[in-house]
Amino acid sequence: MIVSGSTSQALAADLAAELDEDLAAVEFHRFPDGELLAAAPGFEADRAVVVGSTVSSDAHVELLQLQDAVREAGASEVVTVVPYMGYARQDRPVAPGKSTAESPPGYPLSARAVARALSAGTDRVLTVTPHEEAVCEFFDPPAESVEAAGLLADPLPELSDPVFLAPDGGAVDLARSVRDEYDGGAVDHFEKTRLSGSTVEIRPGDADVAGRDVVLVDDIVATGSTMSESIGVLHERGVDRVFVTCVHPLLAGGALTRLRRAGVDGVYGTDTIERPVSAVSAAPAIAAALADHDS
Ligand code: R5P
Repeated sequence: MIVSGSTSQALAADLAAELDEDLAAVEFHRFPDGELLAAAPGFEADRAVVVGSTVSSDAHVELLQLQDAVREAGASEVVTVVPYMGYARQDRPVAPGKSTAESPPGYPLSARAVARALSAGTDRVLTVTPHEEAVCEFFDPPAESVEAAGLLADPLPELSDPVFLAPDGGAVDLARSVRDEYDGGAVDHFEKTRLSGSTVEIRPGDADVAGRDVVLVDDIVATGSTMSESIGVLHERGVDRVFVTCVHPLLAGGALTRLRRAGVDGVYGTDTIERPVSAVSAAPAIAAALADHDS
């Protein structure tokens, strides 16, 4: 039975359809003191697949409550699907305004802290395209990442002489996955230096983009600084159209407006974070990973 947190309702419903499993009834309540209650009344199955993107601290608590609720209701196996794992980017101690090397003692490894909390209530974890695959090692039960970047080729329009471009070397495999699924085009990458939480510097290298369509590919669009800087550089270099794709369209604050003002022609993400640009569902990739394990 599929059990949805409040942040992943569309994805969970698609997953239930993909797996031909029932979608549990869920209830969400906030008490006057601000505390949350997430419940799955009437849950009845041997296996629970609890699905929730931890986009906020509330969403973390909900997921912990749902894990506990289904175990209380008799589930003998609990699988936790975290389509977008919040805090995964804090996979080393970080002190705001300082480089990782300068982080003094007393700062947490936040990705590990949240992984430990989620580990207590589950037998297995799946998460989609984490910023670093190594975060899976922070969980106690078996945890695996599901690669969903290739799905981003699906909503793209017909492209002319496309370049699939990563804003930094770390995302070039994602760009290659989208290109492979699109079935044609070049792959290249820029170099990025992060100056602060919301500012980056992009060095374009020698990517040949003049008169071509460019598809920017990254794991996350958060503040939109990486993508808007990249779009600016591409326009300076005479690009034709620019499309932004990402697995996790976090789109914090005015990120979407920032991309539009930078001159993007289209923005496409998956539903690991449910946003207006969530043009494709990660459910088939998650269902395939669950089915692989079951067979
Ligand atoms: C970091 O390296 C990630 O891959 C993304 O590039 C980053 O999270 C994007 O953040 P923002 O949209 O704030 O530039």
